Amino acid sequence: MKRNTAAARTVGSFLVDRGVSRRSFLKYCIATATSLGLSPMMGSVMAENLAKAKRPSVIYLSFQECTGCMESLTRAFSPSVENLILNSISLDYNHTLMAPSGHAAEAAREEAMAENYGSYLVIVDGAIPTGGPGFCTVAGHDAQDIMREVAAGAAAVISIGTCASYGGIPKANPNPTGAVPVSEIVTDKPVVNIPGCPPIPEVMAATLAHFLSFGSLPELDEFGRPMAFFGNTIHDRCYRRPFYDEGKFAKTFDDEGARRGYCLYELGCKGPTTYNACATVKWNNTTSFPIESGHGCIGCSEPDFWDKGSFYAPVSAGLFSGKEGLIIGTVAGAALGAGAAWNARRKRNKRLAEQGEGGTS
Ligand code: SF4
Ligand code: SF4
Ligand code: F3S
Repeated sequence: MKRNTAAARTVGSFLVDRGVSRRSFLKYCIATATSLGLSPMMGSVMAENLAKAKRPSVIYLSFQECTGCMESLTRAFSPSVENLILNSISLDYNHTLMAPSGHAAEAAREEAMAENYGSYLVIVDGAIPTGGPGFCTVAGHDAQDIMREVAAGAAAVISIGTCASYGGIPKANPNPTGAVPVSEIVTDKPVVNIPGCPPIPEVMAATLAHFLSFGSLPELDEFGRPMAFFGNTIHDRCYRRPFYDEGKFAKTFDDEGARRGYCLYELGCKGPTTYNACATVKWNNTTSFPIESGHGCIGCSEPDFWDKGSFYAPVSAGLFSGKEGLIIGTVAGAALGAGAAWNARRKRNKRLAEQGEGGTS
């Protein structure tokens, strides 16, 4: 069948057909391996494995979302290798992008699941409502039922965006639909979280590349996030950090301090308590990121970021130490509570990986 033929092709042949040279492919793999915390030598292994890897069948589910995550992932500049990696999956179901609709679309999902049961990848954006039937249905089926049914045959589930990872804006107070993250519905498989509103496409591409190359997911932290990209705060890597350390702050968005590029802490920047790779990977083909554009980080990759008070109020003194961004105080209490829950999930992920039901390390 047409889709199977496409899925059976290797990632390497797909990239060659699109004019990617071996040199630029190797360069991408070495950079990706390094960004994942692997040695450059593993970049060569990654290139070799990735070239031979079969294009995986991917079922992409969207629930309570705004399509921003999809926009982020499909936003192409020049056809970078990252974008081609994202394109080199066999996207068998995605109700935003696929040509079929209605019964034909659902039939394509069921067919892809049956043909690739146990080996397909599931990517999810959007939170899942639990407050009552009918808040989010696709083809007459409730979001929770679809999520459980599709996850049952998956090799891995990847939640992209803050909505899928933590509930995001749909879960914001008063959460009228009872929105929950994917990991609260899928409890018998490891779930990778790539938060961000939207998430960084390169992080998604690197996570996919790792899975395709090594058959496992990259090392995850206690929130289920790829450690290599979420191991540091924005503040740890921010180019305005020297100004913070010198106590030089912009007081308004158009004062002399702002013009000189001073630290945006007093204007509400949440970089000190936000874990993401924006300061290093950046956005729009490494063009910039919010802080470089003159606005503080609003903490969009953190749980409950929408409910943590004004985006323009400074992170309270005492919520982090100046040097390391160590969180203490009230928010820390909440974070530790959340951390405990996520820690339980992390242990579950490890257990499942050891049992060979998933691939997290
Ligand atoms: Fe939209 Fe943000 Fe939710 Fe993605 S995480 S679906 S960009 S609201
Ligand atoms: Fe950068 Fe914000 Fe930290 Fe200032 S507070 S150094 S702008 S991350
Ligand atoms: Fe979001 Fe902050 Fe990055 S607002 S895009 S995590 S700089």
